[in-house]
Amino acid sequence: MLNVRSVRVKRSRSYAGGVDFPYSRLRRRPDVEAENLQAHDATDLLLVDRALSLGVEGPEIVVIGDEYGAVTLPLTAAGLRGIRVHQDLATGRRALALNAADLGLEGFEPHELGAALLSGARLVLLQLPKSLAELEEIADAVARWAAPDVLLVAGGRVKHMTLAQNEVLARSFGRVQAERAERKSRLIVAAEPREVPVEPPFPVEQRHGDFVISAHGGAFAGAKLDIGTRVLLDVLGEMDTAAADAVVDLGCGTGALAVSYALAHTDARVIATDRSAAAVASARATAVANGVADRVAVMHDDAASDLADASVDLVLLNPPFHLGTSVHTGAATRLFEAAARILRPGGELLTVFNSSLGYRAEMTRLVGPTDQLHRTPKFTVARSIRR
Ligand SMILES: C[S@@+](CC[C@H](N)C(=O)[O-])C[C@H]1O[C@@H](n2cnc3c(N)ncnc32)[C@H](O)[C@@H]1O
Repeated sequence: MLNVRSVRVKRSRSYAGGVDFPYSRLRRRPDVEAENLQAHDATDLLLVDRALSLGVEGPEIVVIGDEYGAVTLPLTAAGLRGIRVHQDLATGRRALALNAADLGLEGFEPHELGAALLSGARLVLLQLPKSLAELEEIADAVARWAAPDVLLVAGGRVKHMTLAQNEVLARSFGRVQAERAERKSRLIVAAEPREVPVEPPFPVEQRHGDFVISAHGGAFAGAKLDIGTRVLLDVLGEMDTAAADAVVDLGCGTGALAVSYALAHTDARVIATDRSAAAVASARATAVANGVADRVAVMHDDAASDLADASVDLVLLNPPFHLGTSVHTGAATRLFEAAARILRPGGELLTVFNSSLGYRAEMTRLVGPTDQLHRTPKFTVARSIRR
């Protein structure tokens, strides 16, 4: 258990609490929309309320992890201009831009995680990420680049929060205080950034046989090789895919599939694409670490939307089945649809999935005839031929 002292927060005298903002007008598109999936939650409201109560100027505020704009846009609507924003997902970036346009709001600045985002920041509002590694990378970045008197206010749903998050924050901050839960959400306030190591903690590297994986904090499976990915690579190693000129690693994560393919086929050019900026940065670092950066192009994009229809011979896919913290198969469906769109007739989709998910019927419907190539007790590898 951490021994923390209370962080004193100076509240603006003029702020009376509560924000009048049309949260229900926020939408998630192009991310999956469904009745049980919201574009805002109670944590967003707590973060906005806290920011307004502190009376910090817009250019000194940074918002990280705002999913669809439910933190940035209420603050912008309250007259704060020049807020800097970092969102990992291409879908979130697009949703924020669309929601801002719908509401006629402007005056915030998108940035990648780095010095331009954080320099001089005195208040950082963070929707706590899912993984501790992602939190560690963000906490280090805030301690490294923000102002010495910065307050990091991190919020999450109580059911997803753990003491380990406080411990990770305490590695980068001298004072970490978890507050009382409100509406099933809780804020943690961190202050007094510690001195940081010369080298940032990410990306980290791990060797797997003949290749290396390089990973930023937010990338799927970190620098490990996911078991499903390993199964797909084994099947791929047995196949003759020499005729494939245009190959896409769809939802590339750290780029393990793209880079392995490029290493095994020395003439191949591969496109690795993911909606997560952390994944994209990792895939680029993985390509560099394995000496194939000239043949692996990495794109930050939602469901390969920048790739032309019927332009690809082979798609490699290890689809997600979690959407944020809720289990929703819509995320995988979106990628099957994307594969069907970008594959030329006769092109192939190779997919690995947890056998219990029974994706085969959906892949047959969306892409074309689908065969099981391999099955382990846990995973199935299937090939769909684009009809
Ligand atoms: C199960 S991981 C697989 C990562 C990598 N291919 C591997 O095998 O290690 C699924 C990946 O799909 C990405 N993803 C999910 N939805 C996406 C979308 N709509 N567009 C692009 N990428 C997406 C996630 O960010 C994640 O990196």
